Amino acid sequence: MRQHESVGVHPESSLVQVDSDLSATYLSALIEHSPIAIIVLDADHRYTMCNPAFRRLFQYSSDELESSDLDTLIAAPRGVQEATNLTRRVLAGEKVHTVTQRRRKDGMTVDVELYGIPLMVNDRLAGVYGLYQDVTERNQARNAFRTVADKLEHIQQEERSRLARDLHDSTSQELAVLNWNLRKLMQLVADGDETIKALVYRTTTLAYECSERIRSASYLLHPPLLDHSGLAGALVGLAEGFEQRSGIRVDLTIPRKLGRFSDEVEVALFRVVQEGLANVLRHSGSTVVHISLKLQANWLKLTLADEGTGAEPREARRNTGTGINGMRQRLEQLGGLLTMHWTSSGTTITADLPTEYKIDA
Ligand SMILES: Nc1ncnc2c1ncn2[C@@H]1O[C@H](COP(=O)(O)OP(=O)(O)O)[C@@H](O)[C@H]1O
Ligand SMILES: [Mg+2]
Repeated sequence: MRQHESVGVHPESSLVQVDSDLSATYLSALIEHSPIAIIVLDADHRYTMCNPAFRRLFQYSSDELESSDLDTLIAAPRGVQEATNLTRRVLAGEKVHTVTQRRRKDGMTVDVELYGIPLMVNDRLAGVYGLYQDVTERNQARNAFRTVADKLEHIQQEERSRLARDLHDSTSQELAVLNWNLRKLMQLVADGDETIKALVYRTTTLAYECSERIRSASYLLHPPLLDHSGLAGALVGLAEGFEQRSGIRVDLTIPRKLGRFSDEVEVALFRVVQEGLANVLRHSGSTVVHISLKLQANWLKLTLADEGTGAEPREARRNTGTGINGMRQRLEQLGGLLTMHWTSSGTTITADLPTEYKIDA
């Protein structure tokens, strides 16, 4: 600050001088104290300088950096080719940003977020910057979180299917017997007292509603078709049921030989379609919905598109309730993502999931 105060009394030329001295001081202090490891190389990829964070991260001295090729020195085991490719791109003037691995002097591998930045002066390459941030802990925390979330989802799924089985195998069967007995009772009292007949009739209706409710609760907890016919079969069943109940036409495209995926993936995609269809019915006003499932390279891509009036994105965002958030969370837990595309001629949901979970049929 004091330097600034004295700047005003200097002639113009030295003012510029003081300012550029000052910014150089600021810049070198910034680099010196930056928690991000920074290295500067010249246009021939020779070491020029690095900051303390770089020395701390990779543990090499300036002498060692000066006498060796950086890529060979810090590339991850079996990763020299990747490192030299990145270098080639940066030396050709391209900015590079990636998350990868590098090796420290003590042999330990670290996950790094890496920026390679060409330094251009008058349209010519004067050198390159390498910025490295150690993201090992961040990655470990993310992986640990994902493992726990996977386990939780798995436990929840097991619990749901157990509940669904119990409801279906015992409660539903008992209710079926109850219904049957009540029907017999109705026949027995057909000529009897009106009050008794009315009571038996009301009880029969109640028992019927109960068993319907239990049936759909058990279905919602764990769609039985998923176990037997896999995702493809369960989606066909879901689409048919929805079409009959709602009168909305479902145009479903699924590859003929889809194969099977892990329970978590199949349930997640099934739930996305279930919620997507419920939204089409509740909010879109569309008379048709197009659902397609595609296997693309390492990704399973599901799209569900209606031809309704669509929602104002702002309104939808305001209203976003458990439905859309739930779909998003399910997919993200499995390393996938959900994209909503709102237009005035309809809404499209896209769910992308990595297929590393694929189980060969
Ligand atoms: N297919 C659709 N067409 C039009 N609007 C939709 C559609 N799907 C969702 N929306 C909008 O997004 C909002 C959030 O949906 P959701 O999270 O499923 O919650 P909910 O269905 O309980 O309102 C809805 O309230 C609605 O405004
Ligand atoms: Mg909804």
